[in-house]
Amino acid sequence: MREEKTCLEFIDISMEFPGVKALSKVRMDIRRGEIHALMGANGAGKSTLIKILARIYRQTEGEIFLNGQNINGATPETIRNFGVDFIFQELELVPGFTVAQNIMIGIEPCRGPFVHWRRMEEESQRALDAFIPGAVDARSRIADLSVAKQQIVCIVRALSRNPKILVLDEPTSRLSASETEALFAALNSIRNQRELTIIYISHRLEELFRICDRVTILKDGVGAGTWDIKSLTKEDIVAKMVGKMSPPDKAKVPSPAFPGDTHQEAASLQAPLPAALEVCRIGVEGLIEDVSFEVRPGEILSIFGAVGSRKTELLEAILGIRNRSSGTVRIEGREVKLTGARSAKKHGICLLPEDRRKFGIIYDFSVRENTTLAFLKRFITRFGAIRKKWEAQTVKELCASLRVKMPSAEVKVKTLSGGNQQKIVVAKWLAGNSNIYIFDEPTVGIDVRGKSEIHEIIRRLAGEGKAVIVSSSEAEEAIGIGHRMVVLFNGCPAAQFECGSVKYEEIIFLSMGGKRNAG
Ligand SMILES: Nc1ncnc2c1ncn2[C@@H]1O[C@H](COP(=O)(O)OP(=O)(O)OP(=O)(O)O)[C@@H](O)[C@H]1O
Ligand SMILES: [Mg+2]
Repeated sequence: MREEKTCLEFIDISMEFPGVKALSKVRMDIRRGEIHALMGANGAGKSTLIKILARIYRQTEGEIFLNGQNINGATPETIRNFGVDFIFQELELVPGFTVAQNIMIGIEPCRGPFVHWRRMEEESQRALDAFIPGAVDARSRIADLSVAKQQIVCIVRALSRNPKILVLDEPTSRLSASETEALFAALNSIRNQRELTIIYISHRLEELFRICDRVTILKDGVGAGTWDIKSLTKEDIVAKMVGKMSPPDKAKVPSPAFPGDTHQEAASLQAPLPAALEVCRIGVEGLIEDVSFEVRPGEILSIFGAVGSRKTELLEAILGIRNRSSGTVRIEGREVKLTGARSAKKHGICLLPEDRRKFGIIYDFSVRENTTLAFLKRFITRFGAIRKKWEAQTVKELCASLRVKMPSAEVKVKTLSGGNQQKIVVAKWLAGNSNIYIFDEPTVGIDVRGKSEIHEIIRRLAGEGKAVIVSSSEAEEAIGIGHRMVVLFNGCPAAQFECGSVKYEEIIFLSMGGKRNAG
């Protein structure tokens, strides 16, 4: 018998893509008014399951009941008309349209037969400001917004449709702590006014414990079960998702070689190396003010700041992707004029961009092609032939070290799960063998195990003497990975210090514009 409170029921859902069994006989029931977490490692089948609910995919087996009704005949439109709304992992926005057009798509206010543009903008702006005042201008074009702002637009769009059931696929992966709070506050305030049922997908365990009632865990496309969140610990969840994890081995983490290092041994044994990259008083009109730092070989520098603190803009200014109004960049002591990613690459700098959809990856190319594309020269013989075997071997090793879940390296990247696509972008840049690596938000959307693997790889790069910059809006990541840290607030350097000597609360405080106590 169906339980009275159940509003959504997945019964033995299976899904097969060519060569991949994404789901097999998954069962899940969602109760009216609850926040139900859906957890699983990258490629476990979470997004596939909710896309079946959205009728984007048709399951190969099984039934879904919405309020007791089989949704087999439903289309993406009718499912939304039932009051089910989605925020998909791969933000579905029309890049050439304005924010207002995207928010109001399908529900545009009209005057007679015409769209009432002014009202559309006003209503959108009101909804945006109710979420985070002043964060996004309704008149901007989507293509001009950062991924974080695009994420906010998706959230506001979904909320302004007054859904009864809201499905969120990693809504916070691109958001900072304060924006995540805004999302939770908005969800809470809706839930105080009316009934709202939520399916919530996230790799951030802390969030689940804060807002969710129950959790269903998928492992390799198979349902591991559903539990009250209170009955589980973090470790339980991770163990059910991926099996036991061994704690990272601190002893393996190499120390950098620069003076004043907290790892005093390294500093006293080795003479200080010249900076691999020196950034001096960088400024960008109206955006970045007077940022200076250096990174030495073997050192990892974290750049920490909330989303919107202009970390990406700073990196772009350094590499010459964006025009600077002041400042110089030196590589190994020599001043260089970088004019973009390509010239940076010539100077031995690799950038893993934040907006992978724009720059990182070609979705219609295979995993192998994407991985080696940027560095194809390395795999070409004197006579212009590609060293196929070596190329295949490199791709295989990189993908294995990142545990990319895929049937083969020849499948198109667009068929991989969100997190596995991210791993391909990372793999692509690791194939390059540069001297300076810049990672902009390297672990967004990557599951717990993948995350510690990427961190391990970053540490290994530093251990091999590379200079590494990691930009992150996640405080734990910034502290955990870096030897030293620059905190950015509104495009200005708020502080710079050794990571070993700093506390989580303090850098959050500084990143929100707080001032450090002298003494
Ligand atoms: N359109 C597709 N064609 C072929 N295979 C696909 C397609 N979409 C997903 N898959 C495969 O199905 C499996 C499950 O993918 P899914 O996107 O559901 O994972 P996920 O749990 O959402 O992971 P992540 O945390 O990385 O987002 C993966 O192995 C993926 O490669
Ligand atoms: Mg997914």
